[in-house]
Amino acid sequence: MAMRFEELRRLMISDRTVRRFIENKEISTETLGQLVELTRYCPSGRNAQPLKYRLVTSEEERTLVYPLLKWAGYFEEWDGPVEGERPAAYMIQCLDTYYGQNCLCDDGLQLEAITLGMRTLGLGGCIIKAFNSVRLSEVLGLDDRYQPRYVLAIGYPAEEVVLEDMSGEEDADFKYYRTPDGRHHVPKRQLPELLL
Ligand SMILES: Cc1cc2nc3c(=O)[nH]c(=O)nc-3n(C[C@H](O)[C@H](O)[C@H](O)COP(=O)(O)O)c2cc1C
Repeated sequence: MAMRFEELRRLMISDRTVRRFIENKEISTETLGQLVELTRYCPSGRNAQPLKYRLVTSEEERTLVYPLLKWAGYFEEWDGPVEGERPAAYMIQCLDTYYGQNCLCDDGLQLEAITLGMRTLGLGGCIIKAFNSVRLSEVLGLDDRYQPRYVLAIGYPAEEVVLEDMSGEEDADFKYYRTPDGRHHVPKRQLPELLL
């Protein structure tokens, strides 16, 4: 049955960034493959489809990847999820430079497709741009031909995220924050502010 607008809207509302996970709840490579398969149906500039994914699931590789990531830049006192709350898997989105040096906005479109797919499976994740790309390529033995563009951290969520409507004032604070009850809050601008 075709998805209705309200279903899509609710899915998008629920598709929030999660940074604490049930680390020992494994995610199969088959599931990760199904998520990557969704990217086949994304639009692609020049239809070059230059993005590929390196899956990271083993404990050994996850241990190598984790220290190369920077989590939640606004949380100066938080270095990222502690052991037991770390991602159960990662996807490294790479540009295959054989097809060009530029992927236009293919990267973001594909990440959105994957994270929405993750939500439908009860998974959560964090798109990460702040990472040590050189070291990541080294530890995963990536060929120079593949340039890591994003790391997607994936797992079953172990934190609650709450959307907050922003006030509409031009100087309203857009920084996400955490309350003492452990909940993560994400301010979002409201529709009137998005329309010029
Ligand atoms: C392009 C992009 C880069 C991001 N890079 C990071 C990052 O390096 N580290 C991190 O913890 N979160 C990162 N995030 C997650 C954002 O902080 C998050 O999307 C934002 O706070 C809004 O929360 P929401 O995804 O729940 O709407 C990134 C998100 C995007 C779209």
